[in-house]
Amino acid sequence: MSDRIYGELAERYDRSSELGPPNADYDRPTILQLAGPVVRQHVLELGCASGHLTQQLVDCGAHVTALDRSEEMVRLARERLGERASIHLADLSTPLTMVADASVDVAVASLVLHYLPDWNPVLAEVRRCLRPGGALVMSIHHPITGWLRSDRSNYHRTELIEEEWDVDGIRVPAEMWRRPVSAVFSPLLAAGFVIDAVEEPVPHDDGREIRDPRMRRVLTTQPVFLYVRAVAAG
Ligand SMILES: C[S@@+](CC[C@H](N)C(=O)[O-])C[C@H]1O[C@@H](n2cnc3c(N)ncnc32)[C@H](O)[C@@H]1O
Repeated sequence: MSDRIYGELAERYDRSSELGPPNADYDRPTILQLAGPVVRQHVLELGCASGHLTQQLVDCGAHVTALDRSEEMVRLARERLGERASIHLADLSTPLTMVADASVDVAVASLVLHYLPDWNPVLAEVRRCLRPGGALVMSIHHPITGWLRSDRSNYHRTELIEEEWDVDGIRVPAEMWRRPVSAVFSPLLAAGFVIDAVEEPVPHDDGREIRDPRMRRVLTTQPVFLYVRAVAAG
């Protein structure tokens, strides 16, 4: 599932994520804004890819523990960050044994949870790692977009859908799990989170900061990503 993009094509993905408007101008700025000030905070980053968000968190003064299941991505992230972040090869569907209980101030999951069919195990792990009052900030592909890309035979199921992405000039199939809106929030509540913010951001100033005109139109007029900030109940 999108393994080719994050494996064999990791270096191409790295280049396209570095400057591509959806990641660079839209997703990472929103994640950082929802995370709030992270100076001297322990940030757990789920699905760090090649470390662009990791780099920005470190530049903001955070102590980052970053996880990804792709060996190629972990290698690129380690090349980018060196000793400035603790980067681990880890699958989020397994226990996060490298992270101690109640040791994390903020967990960020930028565009990764839609690769997991079942969120209950990872949310239980994130809840265990967060200190009481700590926050999970997450983005996923918008459920409406997923619904439109599905065969629309049953809204209420969680199902694998396929898109085609342009990864640094190559068209590649990408698969992810789309779920109904209730299946975004119910697992968060069941894991002991309180929903603090839900955002579908519209880039400011009619998106003038988004360089590519086609992406500017998409990001300012269509559902693209959904953002949630959830706080670990004390
Ligand atoms: C869209 S990228 C994240 C981009 C990153 N937030 C950034 O701004 O650079 C998604 C990443 O999630 C990772 N991933 C997907 N499924 C995973 C899993 N089950 N466990 C750990 N990482 C996973 C992929 O290998 C990929 O690197």
